[in-house]
Amino acid sequence: MGRLTLIILFIYGLFCTATGQLAGDEAKGSKKYEQYEKPETCASCHTDIYQQWTQAMMSQAYTHHWDEIEYFDLAVAHAAVNPDLKGPVDGCNGCHTPLAFMAGDVTPPRPAENSRANESVSCEVCHTITGFKGEPNFNFNFISEPGRTKYGAKEGLVSPHHNTKFLGIYEEAKFCGSCHNEKNPFGIWVKSTQLEWEDGPYSKQGVACHQCHMPKALGRNAKMAQEDLVAQHLFHGAHDPGKVAGAIEIRMHPEEREVSYDGTVALKIQLFNGKAGHKIPTGSVEDRIMWLHVTATDANGKEYHLPVDKKGFEGEEYTIAADELAYIDMGIPKKDPAFKGVQRDGVPVGDRIFRMPYFDPNGVMTIMQWNTKSQGVDYRIGPRETKIETITWELPDNIPEGKVTFRAELNYMRLVKPVADYLNVPADETEIVPVNFATTWVEIYE
Ligand code: HEC
Ligand code: HEC
Ligand code: HEC
Ligand code: HEC
Ligand code: HEC
Repeated sequence: MGRLTLIILFIYGLFCTATGQLAGDEAKGSKKYEQYEKPETCASCHTDIYQQWTQAMMSQAYTHHWDEIEYFDLAVAHAAVNPDLKGPVDGCNGCHTPLAFMAGDVTPPRPAENSRANESVSCEVCHTITGFKGEPNFNFNFISEPGRTKYGAKEGLVSPHHNTKFLGIYEEAKFCGSCHNEKNPFGIWVKSTQLEWEDGPYSKQGVACHQCHMPKALGRNAKMAQEDLVAQHLFHGAHDPGKVAGAIEIRMHPEEREVSYDGTVALKIQLFNGKAGHKIPTGSVEDRIMWLHVTATDANGKEYHLPVDKKGFEGEEYTIAADELAYIDMGIPKKDPAFKGVQRDGVPVGDRIFRMPYFDPNGVMTIMQWNTKSQGVDYRIGPRETKIETITWELPDNIPEGKVTFRAELNYMRLVKPVADYLNVPADETEIVPVNFATTWVEIYE
């Protein structure tokens, strides 16, 4: 690097500090809505990308029913009784509707009022990002510079509507980490998708988030553009059953194929995360569950539910479905001090749950991530990790001779059902999403 370049860089550094390129919390109220264009403006030329975006959760991050319920009924209501939470709860908008946050429009109007907060994570939110403050990226630490220039990952593009500029950050997973890593007021990482990715095999092989969530395909990125490989703005994740399907592969086998009628069947089940670049579940880990349900069917067609074997690790009780109450802290924002909580899991008792429990300051499980003071055992399945579960089944009396077939089902749910029922969250958020299944058999002899 030449001396002149260094001097220029130094002066530029001083300039940035002086004009204060604000990021994260300090950017609250530093901009105006009018500085940003509406997604509909981009739609006239970037038709496909616009339509893809309207179907992705990005365009609904503020308006989606469960987001509205959790934000207004739990978070804003909690901050109303505990003013210390006002800052962090305003901060929800830093990721879910960054323009509202930067415009100082917090608490924003409800989605029904159709304000610009409804734009959620819009085109302009991402394509005005010029850098980040601090390491690692988390809590909306992006620097936003709205204006005529739209930043992206391609060099030298020409547009009649705006200038374009290449910035390397648009190709990096870190870009996503700014909103997909989150630290709460207790200093707990309540979201760490990009950090999980960083620790895993995909970062070493240079496979960024984009390759799986914005795959490239031959086409036109604007009506008047040349054909080229174009990043598809799919952002498909937990709300796309096809993305979740097959994310974990399962196989299952018995220790012995032939078992005496008074014997015991021992099953081994392998669960391999072959499709995700991070742990499963990731992101809103406090809401999500993935569980393994195993059944046996005997020669007469009678079905038995088989609970998983305990392994004996610390905190395991949170990873096996039980009839326990939890989520008592929802009583604070719901102004119900006598609230006893709701059922913790809402899936058949004895099933294995792949999750990491979040605990409130009283050590009770919570889905209020901002009220999380500690986390329990991390029993999720990491990228390219394989976990083995076992089942030991003492055959019941009167089991008939012949074939017994086994079926292992792995299911996923975006929000634990008892919580959704209590908060009146529409049923689609608690849809059971099949991930995968496996079967095997043994022969029973007299
Ligand atoms: C009048 C048409 C038109 C409108 C309106 C328009 N663009 Fe573009 N944009 C283009 C064209 C043409 C290109 C260059 C395409 C190419 O050559 O591959 C482009 C390129 C881009 C790029 C790629 C930049 C890069 O260097 O990788 C981004 C990002 C972008 N536009 C964002 C936006 C956003 C955000 C909006 C709305 C605020 C918008 N555009 C509105 C026509 C338009
Ligand atoms: C969550 C952030 C985000 C949002 C929201 C977003 N983009 Fe992008 N966009 C990106 C990133 C990152 C890339 C570069 C991807 C790559 O090259 O791997 C990109 C690439 C592009 C490109 C160039 C595509 C190509 O490969 O030729 C255009 C054009 C574009 N975006 C326009 C838009 C428009 C229009 C919208 C809104 C309808 C939008 N983007 C919403 C992050 C975003
Ligand atoms: C400005 C903040 C922001 C940035 C930058 C961002 N995201 Fe997101 N993303 C969000 C928010 C907020 C949601 C949650 C939407 C909702 O409420 O369900 C989301 C949702 C998603 C989902 C859907 C998850 C689901 O549950 O269905 C995927 C996939 C995703 N983002 C991938 C990415 C990738 C890949 C990048 C980087 C190219 C990225 N995001 C960059 C804020 C951001
Ligand atoms: C190798 C492919 C791959 C890579 C790389 C990858 N993902 Fe994913 N992602 C998936 C698959 C498959 C799913 C669906 C299974 C699931 O929900 O975890 C998913 C789900 C998600 C979800 C929804 C998770 C949930 O359970 O709510 C988010 C958010 C997300 N990814 C963001 C990211 C971000 C951010 C990165 C980069 C740091 C990234 N992904 C890298 C494949 C990938
Ligand atoms: C650092 C950025 C960030 C902050 C701050 C943040 N979120 Fe999120 N939020 C996300 C991302 C990214 C997702 C998507 C994760 C996934 O799909 O697993 C998400 C998901 C959610 C979901 C689940 C949406 C669904 O449909 O499943 C809810 C509800 C939610 N956030 C509410 C909040 C509330 C309330 C706050 C403030 C207390 C908040 N968020 C703060 C980034 C953030």
